This record gives sequence, C-alpha cells and structure tokens, in this order.
Amino acid sequence: MKILNYGSLNVDHVYQMPAFVTAGETLSATDCATHTGGKGLNQSVALARAGAEVYHGGKIGADGETLRAFLEKAGVDCTFLRTDPGVPTGHAIIQVVPSGENCIMIYGGTNRMVSREEIDETLGHFSAGDYLLLQNEISNVDYLIEKGHEKGMITVLNPSPITAELLSYKNLGLLDWLIVNRGEAEALSGLAEDGDADGGKAKDPDAVLAALRTRYPRAGIVMTLGKHGAVCLRGGEKVTGRTYTYGKRVDTTGAGDTFTGYFLAGLARGLSLESCMELAGKAAGISITVAGAAVSIPDMETVLSSIPLE
Ligand code: RIB
Repeated sequence: MKILNYGSLNVDHVYQMPAFVTAGETLSATDCATHTGGKGLNQSVALARAGAEVYHGGKIGADGETLRAFLEKAGVDCTFLRTDPGVPTGHAIIQVVPSGENCIMIYGGTNRMVSREEIDETLGHFSAGDYLLLQNEISNVDYLIEKGHEKGMITVLNPSPITAELLSYKNLGLLDWLIVNRGEAEALSGLAEDGDADGGKAKDPDAVLAALRTRYPRAGIVMTLGKHGAVCLRGGEKVTGRTYTYGKRVDTTGAGDTFTGYFLAGLARGLSLESCMELAGKAAGISITVAGAAVSIPDMETVLSSIPLE
C-alpha cells in the first residue's frame, strides 16, 4: 500500500528572537539559520523515517533543488515532484522564542501553482486503498480530496493552516481521516464561531470532538492537545495518547508534522491506534528538542530506543 503526500515544500528562514515581534516594533534576532521545511515536505520525511513507502507530489522552482535532494536522501520517492523554473520555491519566515514556540509567515510560490492537470496525471499512478495525505499549503486541495475519494484512496487531511478558503471547501465531508490540533479542531467544528459567547476561551476537548464527529461522521479524527497529549476517535473506538518529554523544548516547528507522519505510517502498517499514538507522540516529543523542522524528525530506530524523562 502506497502513500501519496501531495503537499508544500518551503525553505525556512528561522530567526531566534527574544520575543515575538509585534505591530510597530523592531527587534534584533539573536541568531538565524536556513532549514528545510514546508508542512508537506516535513510530513513526507516523517513518513519515510517511520518506514513508510511515500511518494511526494508537489512543485518547486529552480531554486528548490536542495528540497528535492533532502526528500530523496530521506527515502521519499520524488517522481511526482515537478519543477517550474519561472516561479520561486515557497518559503517561510519563522520566529522562534526561548520557550521554543514559533510564529510562521509563509510565501506560497510554487506551492500555489499545483494544477488540476498535474493532480489528475499524478493520481493516475495510484489505486483504491492507497493513502492520500494533504495539508493546506498548496493550491487545489479541495479538488485533491474529491479526486482521491473518487479513486477509492484513503484521504487524510491535516488542515493546517486553517484559512477562510479551507472552511469553504465542499469536499471535507468525504475525508477518511482528519488530523488536527486544538485550534484547527475548534475552527472546523464550528464551535469557534461561538467564541465571543464565552470570552473566546478554549472549548472542552470532548465537546469539540463531538461536534467534529457530527460534522464529519465518516472521518476518523485525531486531535493533538499540546502538553495534554492527543485523542483519537475511529468509529466507536476512542484512544488517548500522552505526551513524552525528552529534554529542553528548543523548537516546536514541525512537531505536528512529525506526529502526523508517524501516526499515518503506523496506520498504513496496520498497527493498533494505541501504537500509532505512542509512536507519533514519542517522535514529536523528540523533534522539539532539536532546532529546525525536517532536520529535527527522528528515525524509527531513535524513536523505538528512546527513553522519555516523563
Ligand atoms: O509545520 C511547520 C512548517 O510550517 C514549517 O516548516 C514551515 O515551512 C511551514 O510550512
């Protein structure tokens, strides 16, 4: 069974900041670095490092060859990664503060040039039962969901980042899996629309899950809850996962991508939901102890031999 991850590739320009820059403010970075990233690329790397057979669909510019090389070195098949020499590769400007939290600005570039013709051609190489993984940083995501579903592929969406356009997609109800963080879950559930009624407080996770289940009854749902772990609902089955701590939280960029890739790799191997959640939680926990996105994703051997502090 193959996994096609149709997603973004970015060059990440990462700035270590004493605090996030706010409107009208100028702050000096204490350090800066360039890393390989993009939610799509990160998730392909996580899938490959977790041992899955993964194909990356997407687009880079002439300046993006290092991203292709990174994917290939990680073991990702790049047959369906196209190049448009006339458009710059996507990039991200990322601020990281001492707590390890980040703030990300993305420029789509070639990620926004993925066409329906390319999608049709690529999906022609996959069959019913193969997985189709998507995020929300490329063009034509709703079309991908529709066409993947039509072919009988198992469609999985990590709806990140949430945008007004995503909330208007017609085909979200066709998804087989949704992998969301708490904010994404609230936005998709419709409960965020009542935000003012309770002063904009975070909603009860069980209420959010119940609302998501009502809106997307055919989808398995995984909701990550930061330091409170994660919860997964599939049919009548509900599994909770814990967080794993391995040391100082250096950089959370790519932790969600690591979780998604490891979870899906486990699912594709037929592992139990408990094992999928454990492996994904451990891999994400390790990733935040290292700076950078794709470069911080551990391989399966490291995950299996890891000993969490708590
Ligand atoms: O999820 C982290 C990623 O989001 C970064 O690598 C950045 O490129 C943005 O896409």
